Amino acid sequence: MSTVTLPPGPSTPRAVQGAYALTVPRRGMRQMRERYGDAFTVNVPIFGRAVVISDPAEIKQLFLAGPEIVDNLESNLGRVLGPGSLFALAGQEHHRQRKLLVPPFHGRRLGAYEKVIEDEAVRELASWPQGRAFATLPSMMRITLNVILRAVFGAEGAEFAALRKLLPPAIKLGSRLAVLPIPRVDYGRWSPWGRFWAMRREYDAVVERLITKATRVEDLGGRDDILALMLQSRYDDGSGMSHNEIADQLLTLLTAGHETTATTLAWAIERLRRHPAVLRELVEEADAGGSALREATILEVQRTRPVIDLVGRQVKADSFHLGRWTLPKGFTVLVSIDLAHDSESESVFPNARAFDPSRFLGARPDLYQWIPFGGGTRRCLGAAFANLEMNAILRTILRAFTLLPTRERDKRWHSRGVANAPAKGGRAVVRRRTAPVMPPAAATSARATS
Ligand code: HEM
Repeated sequence: MSTVTLPPGPSTPRAVQGAYALTVPRRGMRQMRERYGDAFTVNVPIFGRAVVISDPAEIKQLFLAGPEIVDNLESNLGRVLGPGSLFALAGQEHHRQRKLLVPPFHGRRLGAYEKVIEDEAVRELASWPQGRAFATLPSMMRITLNVILRAVFGAEGAEFAALRKLLPPAIKLGSRLAVLPIPRVDYGRWSPWGRFWAMRREYDAVVERLITKATRVEDLGGRDDILALMLQSRYDDGSGMSHNEIADQLLTLLTAGHETTATTLAWAIERLRRHPAVLRELVEEADAGGSALREATILEVQRTRPVIDLVGRQVKADSFHLGRWTLPKGFTVLVSIDLAHDSESESVFPNARAFDPSRFLGARPDLYQWIPFGGGTRRCLGAAFANLEMNAILRTILRAFTLLPTRERDKRWHSRGVANAPAKGGRAVVRRRTAPVMPPAAATSARATS
């Protein structure tokens, strides 16, 4: 066994550090970096003793380490999303599932979702009021929920309506349960777990109906939604995914992809209203049919306002030499996305506190410095999908509305459980530039219940 060497950190009791982490997470992390340097050891509820890192070389080493050395944190997610969820799997099982799920999220396949995204955006934006301030986050949440239900679940009609009603409260309750200790006693069907399980049974029944409908379709190969692609995919031994695996994976994709994308878009509104010069250029570019600055802007919004602030791993080997430190088996490593993006080293992001999309114009970000999607073998599966979606929604907004700038102060970060959103939900004041042209009514679209 190697000698354990941990970075320095506060010696205050776990409860005190936990209260601090809960009340001022971002400021707390920055203060600890000032005091202890870019790596420090904390002791907080849920994670226990954990090393927080933010140096790109150490992040790279962590992300490149194999699953026999570090893997995902054991959490309640397996109970909430199901044992087949990517978040619940480790090692070979995770690799096996991921191999099956990667192709639908890449390359040519993705283009097929753009029309669905644009249609959902146009439909929702038709309700935006003119000339008065309103929060954009609820709208973004409705768009991203509808997009996932249609592009990922392939849901239409009655199943679409049932899932729209059921899933937002189920995810809200599930994300609370995921961070609480698992109760030893079953408190019955009115307890939070009991209520969650009732929703889960309802969800499983709707997914089963979607699967039955899909398998009846003669030309399943002609469908682009991810459920249809999952039904046709095969493991190396030729077997297909079980219905339970599909249900767990669909719920995972929705939980991971809906609120994260919506909150990033709300931050984009918050940032652009405070940077009128960038906003002006974006409108000109959208009118001219371009996209380079918009893509760079989305990268910069994610750098300066990452909606997930930590990704975690657990040491599985007897010990793990991570840069200057040696961590024992079972120890947690947390990568602080916010600290990595707010690097004090000018060689990483010069003038890091400035919102400057031009830093990404014509340049791809380094994937160990720009890490809003985490990294390595567990990097966000939906990263390309999310960027395509944010791009299409932002383009639709810029073409349809004049977004009025503001001199108000930057908005605070507000934790919603899964993701960090701008306080007050990314408020906007808009004037319509073009009359809305509604897409033909989808078999679906009951608007907005969530
Ligand atoms: C702006 C939007 C999004 C952000 C910021 C985001 C962020 C993240 C982060 C930080 C992780 C953990 C990565 C790690 O541990 O290294 C993750 C994992 C994941 N994300 Fe996303 N995500 C977004 C959108 C999406 C979308 C749209 C989907 C799918 C429709 C998705 C599906 C997933 C899945 C399945 C995982 C688990 C991957 C695995 O464990 O192998 N995400 N995401």
